Amino acid sequence: MADVVVVGIGADGWPGLGEQAREAVAKAEVIAGSHRQLSLLPDTPAELRPWPSPLMPALRELLTCGRRIVVLASGDPMHHGIGATIARIVPEVRVIPHPSSVSLACARLGWPVESVTVVSMVGRPLAAVFAPGRRFVVLSEGSGSPAAVAEALSACGYDRSAVTVLEQLGGPGERVGPIRDDHDPLNVVAVECVADDPLPIVPGLPDDAYDHDGQLTKREVRAVVLAFLQPGGLLWDVGGGAGSIAIEWMRADRSCRAVTVERDPARAARIAGNAARLGVPALKVVTGAAPQALAGLEPPDAVFIGGGLTAEGVPETCWQALKPGGRLVATAVTVESESVLARWHRDRGGDLTRLSVSRAAPVGGFTGWRPAMPVTIWSVRKDLT
Ligand SMILES: C[S@@+](CC[C@H](N)C(=O)[O-])C[C@H]1O[C@@H](n2cnc3c(N)ncnc32)[C@H](O)[C@@H]1O
Repeated sequence: MADVVVVGIGADGWPGLGEQAREAVAKAEVIAGSHRQLSLLPDTPAELRPWPSPLMPALRELLTCGRRIVVLASGDPMHHGIGATIARIVPEVRVIPHPSSVSLACARLGWPVESVTVVSMVGRPLAAVFAPGRRFVVLSEGSGSPAAVAEALSACGYDRSAVTVLEQLGGPGERVGPIRDDHDPLNVVAVECVADDPLPIVPGLPDDAYDHDGQLTKREVRAVVLAFLQPGGLLWDVGGGAGSIAIEWMRADRSCRAVTVERDPARAARIAGNAARLGVPALKVVTGAAPQALAGLEPPDAVFIGGGLTAEGVPETCWQALKPGGRLVATAVTVESESVLARWHRDRGGDLTRLSVSRAAPVGGFTGWRPAMPVTIWSVRKDLT
């Protein structure tokens, strides 16, 4: 194995490197990094290797070449950087960090680093659940990212948020200010969320937060379903409708993942739009009918069946795939689907609950109760063995 040092370097380039980092660079036989990072070094006898695309084959080849290697990474290599990838391949790697762009941004803004949520837009869409007062530092993909952040805020009613773009942090071209038309590609975006009428961060978003055609688990039932599901890990949301259960599962915690299966293509497209607007664009949408469309999916930690309960093999397939200790929750409004739940409850136990929700609505000049169809909820935990 090669002798590998990962050196964090900032926009301040060579003058910003400490003694240890300079020594490692001086001793290196091969130095790898982006064109921009390599151009920050003074003349060196070492072989310079700009990263090709794709990166991984070149990285593996480099790390096994048996020479003294320095890999340049921006800021703190272990924070959204190449350091963690290299440490997986070469556990004995030495990492010399530079302050991360997040630390520099917080230093400029007077924000404690622990008060911010860091999200990356590098190679992925923005995934941020906005809430009043929440602070984000967004790691940009390029000069277009600040506008994309502003657009996402606006789509969720957070137009009045304080947005600061910090470019070339720590370098001679550093610039800190509001969104403009032309940003340096090297930037991060700091957001302090402000909204007049914010969406709640707990489950049970208003029904009109979703684009839907009526196939939606209504707010009150949704809040109870999420309480039974206990978000954590991977959810299968079978019969996605508008995607509300999967979306609120993912909004509960950044570690939550979900896949939703919906047979109707128009609804599946709507789910993707709802997920993007409500801050969870990584929701995986499978267009197809269960149980066939469930084949090959990663085993879930929890399953919600909101549609397809009476289709041949749906509950069986979900139950078999569910990990030991996982939760399964299903809802039914018809006599046929209720009878499926009654059978499963008899055979597997768990809780059978019936919710009847009425909402007050105008009746002539008065107010009366409009009952929704009662919903039966079966909730069960699979044994650990
Ligand atoms: C009541 S809606 C679910 C609402 C959803 N939980 C929400 O809140 O947005 C039921 C959905 O299940 C879908 N569905 C029914 N049978 C299905 C099956 N076998 N596979 C996939 N989707 C199915 C329907 O197209 C419908 O969109």
